[in-house]
Amino acid sequence: MKVLVTGGAGFIGSTIASACADAGMEPVILDDLSTGLRAFATRFPFYEGDYGDRSLVATVLADHPDLAAVVHCAASIVVPESMADPLRYYENNVAKLPGFVTAILQQSSCRRILFSSTASMYEPDARLVVDEQSPLRPQSPYAASKWMVERILADTAAATDLSVISLRYFNPVGADPKLRSGLQVQNPSHALGKLLQARREGSPFTVTGTDWPTRDGSGLRDYIHVWDLARAHVAALQRFDDVVGGGDGQGFEVVNLGSGTGTTVFELVDAFAEATGWTPVVQTAPPRPGDVVGCCASADKAARVLGWRAELGLVQGIRDALAWSEVLQDVPR
Ligand SMILES: NC(=O)c1ccc[n+]([C@@H]2O[C@H](COP(=O)([O-])OP(=O)(O)OC[C@H]3O[C@@H](n4cnc5c(N)ncnc54)[C@H](O)[C@@H]3O)[C@@H](O)[C@H]2O)c1
Repeated sequence: MKVLVTGGAGFIGSTIASACADAGMEPVILDDLSTGLRAFATRFPFYEGDYGDRSLVATVLADHPDLAAVVHCAASIVVPESMADPLRYYENNVAKLPGFVTAILQQSSCRRILFSSTASMYEPDARLVVDEQSPLRPQSPYAASKWMVERILADTAAATDLSVISLRYFNPVGADPKLRSGLQVQNPSHALGKLLQARREGSPFTVTGTDWPTRDGSGLRDYIHVWDLARAHVAALQRFDDVVGGGDGQGFEVVNLGSGTGTTVFELVDAFAEATGWTPVVQTAPPRPGDVVGCCASADKAARVLGWRAELGLVQGIRDALAWSEVLQDVPR
């Protein structure tokens, strides 16, 4: 089975490509390297450029008439950046999509899109647990851009023979356990990245936001190991037609990908200490623009329709992230 992975030079897309290859599939990568690494992409057939570039997409589709599915990971993904520059986010994540899907419909026989979506579009209730029916209220241009893409894909699936599965990820951590790829950013803006940076620099770790309605006031996240995430994509690709055919979403199905376990930022600090043997000095500060209280997943639908559950825990995710951060320095840029 041949699969086009847009954004396949990035953290998650590169891990999905490895998991697909391990499962006997043939990944093809399309990535503009705006944040991704060439070294991640060139392990597979690689097209460098923008998924919004119609002539490049036409070339990819002509070269690979046997594509079974497109895994669409390419996007701009940093929430505070999206608050500061929303137009760039709507342009890159939303405006380019209709042309891309039109090309797939008109220039290939591929009719399956697996979309990288986000749980940050949910409005959690007081329990802070969400399932696929929970209300949506995206609170940043980034989350809104993902919501808009879902809408475009759902409308297109209803009107055409396109089938779409939108996987709403919670908070990916870790790296490919075989260390073929991982987070390519040296200083990521999320909490685990900041903890790794604090450990490297011997600096304090700042918990941003301590007045959220959680058990200890810090934000709640549902950490999911990126390898578990990648395995879920393999399962979705293998069961694609059953998942979409068995649903009632007119060719469009949403599935949450989380561990089902919530972890607060203070609990993350404890897990970090357990995984690394190093305990940071902790400071507190107000939330950053676009920060949300967070939530954790009900992962029951993923278990039911994909036969998938998260297997690797948070401590393992932290250990793999740490191992990867040591490898990253030697990855060519
Ligand atoms: N990392 C997370 O916490 C998280 C959570 C939920 C959902 N997601 C989604 O998962 C997907 C992958 O995220 P990631 O963490 O791997 O980010 P990433 O930045 O590592 O990967 C994104 C990749 O897309 C490429 N890209 C961006 N714009 C492009 C364009 N116009 N044309 C071609 N390539 C382009 C980048 O070069 C990069 O390789 C994104 O769609 C993101 O929204 C990520």
